[in-house]
Amino acid sequence: MSISVLDVLSAAFASAFEALGFAPELGAVRESDRPDLAPFQCNGAMAAAGVLKKKGEKANPRDIAAQIVEKLSGHSAIGGLEIAGPGFINILPEDALVAERANNLLADERAGAGILDGQKIVIDYGGANVAKPMHVGHLRSAVIGESLKRLLRFRGHDVIGDVHLGDWGLQMGHLISELEDEQPGLIYFDATVTEGFPAESPVTMDDMARLYPAASSKSKADPERLKTSQIATADLQSGRPGYRALLEHFIRISIEYLKIGYGELGVTFDLWKGEAAVDPLIPDMIEEMKSKGITEDSDGALIVPVDENWDPEKRKGLPPVMLKSSAGAVLYHTTDLATLVDRKNEIDPDLILYVVDQRQATHFKQVFKAAELAGWFGADQLEHLGFGTVNGPDGKPFTTRDGGVLRLADLTQMMRDAAYKRLEENGIGKDFDADELADIADKVGMAALKFADLQNQRLTNYIFDVDRFTAFEGKTGPYLLYAAVRIKSLLRNAADKGVSAGPIQVSHKSEAALVLSLDAFDRALAQTEAKRAPHILCEHIYRLSQSFSRFYTDCPILADSTEEHLKASRLSLAELTLRQLKLGLDIIGIEVPERM
Ligand code: ARG
Repeated sequence: MSISVLDVLSAAFASAFEALGFAPELGAVRESDRPDLAPFQCNGAMAAAGVLKKKGEKANPRDIAAQIVEKLSGHSAIGGLEIAGPGFINILPEDALVAERANNLLADERAGAGILDGQKIVIDYGGANVAKPMHVGHLRSAVIGESLKRLLRFRGHDVIGDVHLGDWGLQMGHLISELEDEQPGLIYFDATVTEGFPAESPVTMDDMARLYPAASSKSKADPERLKTSQIATADLQSGRPGYRALLEHFIRISIEYLKIGYGELGVTFDLWKGEAAVDPLIPDMIEEMKSKGITEDSDGALIVPVDENWDPEKRKGLPPVMLKSSAGAVLYHTTDLATLVDRKNEIDPDLILYVVDQRQATHFKQVFKAAELAGWFGADQLEHLGFGTVNGPDGKPFTTRDGGVLRLADLTQMMRDAAYKRLEENGIGKDFDADELADIADKVGMAALKFADLQNQRLTNYIFDVDRFTAFEGKTGPYLLYAAVRIKSLLRNAADKGVSAGPIQVSHKSEAALVLSLDAFDRALAQTEAKRAPHILCEHIYRLSQSFSRFYTDCPILADSTEEHLKASRLSLAELTLRQLKLGLDIIGIEVPERM
């Protein structure tokens, strides 16, 4: 792999600063804040002047900048230098350097993306709950988690995605007791039966989606009904065979259903573990934590204090971890800790990332601290990557028109319908057959949904706006698809005309700008990883599409008047752009149709 244009320029500036007696780091070159003036800039002259002034010497940053420019005059990497303001140096790279880099990128299947000596990483995302239909609240974890998984894998890490199903709480007791109410004759409710339960599930996903809310709302109105659910939960957790057999059905049916829902979003998991799966580890885990002296008894409950302050009188900050309630039930904290024990034993990862709603931030602080106190993982091995909510036009969490929870399946259907309408409006696909058109509408709808989500900073809330998300103009998923598809059709035309790709030459400004956009890919990937921030990659992809679009307008490719060597060069640039676009879009979970 050759190095990026920015790194070549940085090296040149570093030696110029060094030659003038300054630290080479002052020569760091970066992408310019004013790309209209020059693509790169170096601001080291100001810092250099600061260093001299500290030593009591006279120094003018503009003079230092002038000396640097002088030192670099005639350098083969540099096409132009200009001093601006108090001593900024605007930098234009030499076209030959840009072309050389372009040809290196062209020869690279990964279009400039480096590959790391990776770590072993678990990503805990998805987090759907057994027996509950997926709703809009599950969207962001799935979309963000999937893209981080793909990114980290692409970067060279060994990544395991785990859905971590919610299958061990009160919702199970609700379901069991409501089912018993409805069908008391089922064999699962006969406490004397301990084995030989039917293989066929007594409920479907629709049954569960009806039973759970019924139990939940009855319990809110009636404390006795709630008690019944709590007892069923406790009996399940203490291993009552009929209940365990029911739970297995609930989990199996739910996973079948969830695989379809996640599948529609292009989201797949390596592990379909959940809270119930780690329950057997809890007794030993609790013994271990007790023997390490990190637990305390608190009014009959077993807790782990995790506040900075160990003196019970002074604890004010982080509330304690609850391992067991006074009624003896295990809680969300407990199953998450047991999951950490399981991951340590089975996988021993370097890092675990939790892509979960920011409203659970305290929960994860508590769990991570307890795991650290127990000596299972270091503080730098566990990270909660929170995210904001998807809101409606009123700024409140998005719901259906009558205020109910919006099912994920309805939301994805809404996106597909809107995409269909947009295609129609834009006169796209009139002569395509129905299957192809449906496939395109699906890809456009999902691209709109995912890009609209991922282009935001993770922690901000955003407003769900189908019209804006599906527009073909602006910073949207459909715009990016359109850009990629346009290149595909260009390449088909070239093939029809018998024009083939050749070495890249750079002479037009828009060609250089396109190459420099392409050259920023690896930096964007590295930053996306460092900040766990898919919006950085989204921004890169968007800018690349814009650079391509400008190039496409300014530099005719297949026109008869274009010289053959330029046709070949520009075709290579188009091929390379498409390759990088597809790699980037795949990381954010977006698939490009053949034509549109
Ligand atoms: N099931 C949980 C919920 O719906 C999310 C699980 C997140 N992951 C975890 N390890 N706690 O809130």
